[in-house]
Amino acid sequence: MKLDKHFINHLTTARNIGVMTGAGISADSGIATFRGKDGLWNNIPVEKVATLEGFLENPELVWKFYDMRRIEISKAKPNHAHLTLKELEDFYQVSIITQNIDGFHKLAGSSNIIELHGNIWEVRCMETGKVSNNTEAPLTTIPPKSETGSLLRPNVIWFGEALPQKALDLSLKIASESDIFIVIGTSAAVQPAASIPMIAKRANAFLVEINIEETQITRFTDLFLKGKAVKVLPELIKEIKKIKGK
Ligand code: OAD
Repeated sequence: MKLDKHFINHLTTARNIGVMTGAGISADSGIATFRGKDGLWNNIPVEKVATLEGFLENPELVWKFYDMRRIEISKAKPNHAHLTLKELEDFYQVSIITQNIDGFHKLAGSSNIIELHGNIWEVRCMETGKVSNNTEAPLTTIPPKSETGSLLRPNVIWFGEALPQKALDLSLKIASESDIFIVIGTSAAVQPAASIPMIAKRANAFLVEINIEETQITRFTDLFLKGKAVKVLPELIKEIKKIKGK
């Protein structure tokens, strides 16, 4: 990979790197993305499985969908793109904002992660709001219930639901404090996540995008690195090691 001078200058002086990831970073772990030709939302009615209304109407159907996804994720693991983001911490203060619910950044060992859309391995009680871990895949009972018999839901954000304020505030803080902000594998089609890179850009971050194709934010970036995250990120860290003399 040949980096331009401008980017090298930023990589030399930067302290804080903000990263926002989407489904594309986990594509090479074998996890389906949402949009595009093999995207989940092409085959599955989003309003039935990813809205509160859909869940209240048919919790069993929704849980069957999430059970299927949990099984898929449990068989997969973080790939070299996730692992490279962990390695980036050897050189910078790295904060990851992810839209993914697969938990792969945690598994890869990254230190600062905001899971903007929740985590598929957590459940939330519909009565009390209490969040707890549940790593059973496949689930023995569908829909799962709490010890007191209340209905549990996946602790993920569905369409029409607000993001947790604390996670959003923290994401905005990261974006506005980043020297370099890297957007990886997201179509940037879902708000408010999609506006986070723009906030970084407005706060003077050098905006980099890694994707196999152009997206709605590509024209605002300072650098677009076209390719699979699993290929581009390891190449990038090689260059960073050269710059840092390691
Ligand atoms: P999308 O499926 O919308 O977009 C995936 C992006 O990854 C696309 O831009 C692809 O071009 C890109 N991509 C695919 N394979 C790649 C690879 N190997 N390397 C790099 N890029 C690759 O997924 P998201 O943008 O994450 O929300 O979707 C955002 C949100 O919409 C999700 O969090 C989910 C979904 O509905 C909720 O469920 C609330």
